[in-house]
Amino acid sequence: MTTSRIPGFYDLTLEERRAKLADASPLSPGELIPLTSPLALDVASHMVENAIGTFSLPLGVALNFMVNGRDVLIPMVIEEPSVVAGASFMAKLARASGGFTATSAEPLMIGQLQVLNVEDANKAAERVLARKTELLTYVDAAESSLKSRGGGARDLEVRVIEESPIGKFLVVHLIYDVRDAMGANAVNTACERLAPRIEEITGGKVHLRILSNLTDKRMAKATCVIPVKELEFVAQDGILRYSGEEVRDGIIAAYAFAAADPYRAATHNKGIMNGIDPVVIATGNDWRAIEAGAHAYAARSGRYTSLSTWSKDESGNLVGELEMPLAVGIVGGATKVHPAAQAAVKLMNVKSAGELAEIIVSVGLAQNMAALRALATEGIQRGHMSLHARQVAIAAGASGELIEKVASQMAAEGVVRMDRAKEILMTMESGK
Ligand code: MEV
Repeated sequence: MTTSRIPGFYDLTLEERRAKLADASPLSPGELIPLTSPLALDVASHMVENAIGTFSLPLGVALNFMVNGRDVLIPMVIEEPSVVAGASFMAKLARASGGFTATSAEPLMIGQLQVLNVEDANKAAERVLARKTELLTYVDAAESSLKSRGGGARDLEVRVIEESPIGKFLVVHLIYDVRDAMGANAVNTACERLAPRIEEITGGKVHLRILSNLTDKRMAKATCVIPVKELEFVAQDGILRYSGEEVRDGIIAAYAFAAADPYRAATHNKGIMNGIDPVVIATGNDWRAIEAGAHAYAARSGRYTSLSTWSKDESGNLVGELEMPLAVGIVGGATKVHPAAQAAVKLMNVKSAGELAEIIVSVGLAQNMAALRALATEGIQRGHMSLHARQVAIAAGASGELIEKVASQMAAEGVVRMDRAKEILMTMESGK
């Protein structure tokens, strides 16, 4: 059975980690190979135009996650130090009270048709709505792989844009169930099919026909409850620096800052996306689409604000909640052609796009908590320091065991700079 608890994982060598992962995960060593090998050039050259090679990023596995009572190993593709460790640590705290509880909505995407040159937009909108059933049936009459999996056109909505740089126009929304796909292709195809019918009915000219990345019908939500005792902040020297209550209230005050101030909210939400994007990338999903949806949703009231909320319950526990649009798929697109993306989906043992969204939103919440806990206590730099020091050591030319040695010495000195890394490296290499 899969376990996401692998004590000591961090201290193992890369090879030992791979072996442990094969033991702990539903994947055999053979099935893990795509996660540990580069993308084949012939696959890459069919994915984008003008390909000349591939570009690698680290793939880490976040541990300790329990989502809806199930242990999940989380693949994360990211270049930033501290993110995988932060998510894993917070997942461990959340585990004490059963981990994350997450839900996801039906996979409904919105396709938009912009209708120009309509004489009376309000009357045209009424005419479209009056023929809704017929139009939905027409869209569904086309061959589509999604339809055979239970997806298809579900609803039509109309909106009259009263003011714009070109004046008033009509917008028709096609609500389309994409099942386990991200669904961009299916929705765009359906919009293009629908367009001539909308022109007939409205007497206007359909201009744009494209999905919206503000997928606010396809939301995912995670909550966690952290017992205050778990929040005690013990420094590396073993001294209790902050009580659980202090950390809890510090996290709530940090959230209040983001709730009230867009300058802070942008950074707060960036911290959430530090958890979301790496899993979206690992599973071959479109992270630009997820980013666009997240930030548009954060600004839905007219003022950009925090995507998450943090509060305390009657027993004094810290309660976190994150709800955001999450249009991710497990079939089609890069998820299908990229072998590592397929292996990443298997590693998490997800059976539906909704289940994947539930895991991703939980990682976003964990990551947010990691950042706020650090910011509300010792600050972000200390935690960053040792991993950053390793990167500087590598950049200075250290390899093998020397990376750790040079990094540790710089971290101990509190001076993490390229010139110092080079000096230390030279001393170590010359055996002085
Ligand atoms: C850094 O990548 C992310 C943070 O800035 C997030 C935050 O401030 O909440 C630490």
